[in-house]
Amino acid sequence: MKIDIVSVFPEYFEVLNLSLLGKAQEKGLVEVTAHNLRGWTHDVHHSVDDTPVGGGAGMVMKPEVWSECLDELLHLEPTTVTCDSTADADDTASADAAEPAESATEIAANADTVPATDRPVLIFPNPSAPLFTQQDATELSHANHLLFGCGRYEGYDARIPQYYRAQGVDVREYSIGDYVLNGGEVAVSVMLEAITRLLPGFMGNAASIVEESYTGENALLEHRQYTKPADWRGIKVPDVLLSGDHAKVDRFRRDEALAKTNELRPDLIEALDCSKLDKADRKTLMALGWEVSGAHPRQR
Ligand code: ADE
Repeated sequence: MKIDIVSVFPEYFEVLNLSLLGKAQEKGLVEVTAHNLRGWTHDVHHSVDDTPVGGGAGMVMKPEVWSECLDELLHLEPTTVTCDSTADADDTASADAAEPAESATEIAANADTVPATDRPVLIFPNPSAPLFTQQDATELSHANHLLFGCGRYEGYDARIPQYYRAQGVDVREYSIGDYVLNGGEVAVSVMLEAITRLLPGFMGNAASIVEESYTGENALLEHRQYTKPADWRGIKVPDVLLSGDHAKVDRFRRDEALAKTNELRPDLIEALDCSKLDKADRKTLMALGWEVSGAHPRQR
């Protein structure tokens, strides 16, 4: 996977040479290049931003600098497009004229079968965009080329994603949470880590990914984990985990995942597909106050 990151602080991404991502780069699994957006400026001040049209606080990143940079990295010729500047305001993540994106459910169901795509994906972190999820990470882990554009200040000119979408580029905008950061760099690091750890050969133990929270089509929060000693400072590991009975251990963990998800993220329980739940899952959910006879659980 080739990853380009454009930022006014490319040094920020030196951390990506550490840890597992650093090793993945050494192994040739991923090739990460951080570019300085100012390298595409032509004025003495290397300016990348300007005041907002219509007034308001802060500065907005200029489209001309971004387009020179993105055209070069995407091997596109500059052109002129005709489109309505308000057209895709509500249609940010996965908005893609040439090839409609799969639904989240389809992506989850096909998670292991989605073929690698040669089409580059251009990603802009943006606090005003849909939330980035594990399903997005899974889908993007199948792309061959990701290009991240980090905004700063009050963000970037809205015509930038619009123009590249009109060019047939797969453009996504994602928020990593309901809070505002100073720029997209941290958000890109978060997304990059979530995506690259799913690459085949990246993690030592692929099974640990399958068991994680938010993974798979019926995603639950992960059960609690323990290691030795069995009794630490008076707190004991649950007996069943020491029993050696794998079926009982699996059931205990599954029930714990259901109980924990019920307590902390009932929205994830509501999203479960009841037809995929086994008899014991249904019993546990019913004991937790859920009705499981419909397509999705409903709180009683
Ligand atoms: N840029 C600033 N805040 C952000 C957020 N919450 N998610 C993505 N990009 C951002």
